[in-house]
Amino acid sequence: MLSKEQNELITQTGPGTPCGRLLRSYWQPVATAEELPPGGDPIPIRIMSEDLVLFRDDSDRLGLIGQHCPHRGTDLSYGRVEDGGLRCLYHGWLFDIDGNCLDQPAEPEGRKFCDKIKHVAYPVQEKGGAIWAYLGEGAPPLIPEFQFLAAPEPNRLAFRVKQMSNWLQGVESSIDPAHTTFLHRRPPGIKSERSGTDVNAVRGTNPPAISTENTSFGMRIYALHDSPDGRKYLRVNNYVYPTGTTASQSGNDVSYQGRIYVPIDDYSHYRFEFFYSRNKPMDKERLRKNREKNVAQDHRHVRREENRYLQDRAEMKGDGSWSGMGLHFPSQDAFAIETQGAIQDRTKEMLGSSDVVIAMARRRVLDAIKDIEEGKPAPGQIRDPSEGIFADFICAADFIGDDEDGPSYCRRLLAEAETAATG
Ligand code: FES
Ligand SMILES: [Fe+2]
Repeated sequence: MLSKEQNELITQTGPGTPCGRLLRSYWQPVATAEELPPGGDPIPIRIMSEDLVLFRDDSDRLGLIGQHCPHRGTDLSYGRVEDGGLRCLYHGWLFDIDGNCLDQPAEPEGRKFCDKIKHVAYPVQEKGGAIWAYLGEGAPPLIPEFQFLAAPEPNRLAFRVKQMSNWLQGVESSIDPAHTTFLHRRPPGIKSERSGTDVNAVRGTNPPAISTENTSFGMRIYALHDSPDGRKYLRVNNYVYPTGTTASQSGNDVSYQGRIYVPIDDYSHYRFEFFYSRNKPMDKERLRKNREKNVAQDHRHVRREENRYLQDRAEMKGDGSWSGMGLHFPSQDAFAIETQGAIQDRTKEMLGSSDVVIAMARRRVLDAIKDIEEGKPAPGQIRDPSEGIFADFICAADFIGDDEDGPSYCRRLLAEAETAATG
């Protein structure tokens, strides 16, 4: 449970808000690279309650500038890409990627009015299949070199999906190890399309024992299941401070999904999904087809509040699905977080012992907000490339030895990786 003040502090991310200042201290993904290829059209982007336009100029340089023309406010995302910038359709003012006004054709020649105009502009770069922006103050830090961002292009694929809730509800759904047993429970015998695993057969249907460990990048989350065959089945997921998570997908960390939850405003967010395969190129066609089935043109899930998430109560009977909402986990997560309300009222919740991860992640963000408010640097900003490697990063789901637990399993994996690296 949070106080009303704490809940406002951690959910409000507009310009000038403490949490907004915190999240602006890191690069945030704003679109996938596929949405704006060289020669692509400008895209309106709302992020942390700021309306912007993402574009490539006629040299294919990326820019992110204010959506509304500083002259009289017309939407620049409709503008013409030409002459080294983006030209407003109303009176022809031209802006480059740094927000400089290059031309005002309706103004008398020789008047230097252009020089007085500096439009909103933010640094942008492409990484890991996404386009990232830095909306913060001062020199931008570095983007971390997470596996799911640094992998070769055939081994990764990025998508974004719009969810109608505050960003924190998105993060909380992804780091919550307890809900998987319930919300995502499938009929017996149904195998995951991706890993071929029958999750009921390996995890059973009892909730896991949950524990955590602090790491260089945030928090490692252990969910230990009693498998029906008597073995112990461990899921290792991560809270990637401040807005990221990972969700394990298969038998070890060869394939998983990194996620980053970026506020659009305080009532909606984008969930960026970074699919990653360590050892082999991924089947992108299959992933794209799966997305087409489940995500609509407006970037929202096909299942949504307006259609009551297409819940089928017949599907819930007998051995059917727990939720009556098909087999697509992200749609089920969207149901869970969107129906909490656009901003969950955390003064009214009742956290139990299985919510320990949620409480710890909130504490971490609230502490970081306090640092910012006290004038300290934002924690976890990467300034030196070596800080962004995160050698202790593990995402896995596997049977473990009887004498092992989450931390000892991870230490074994890290030792094996080190041995392999040093030969
Ligand atoms: S409103 Fe954009 S040029 Fe006038
Ligand atoms: Fe989930």
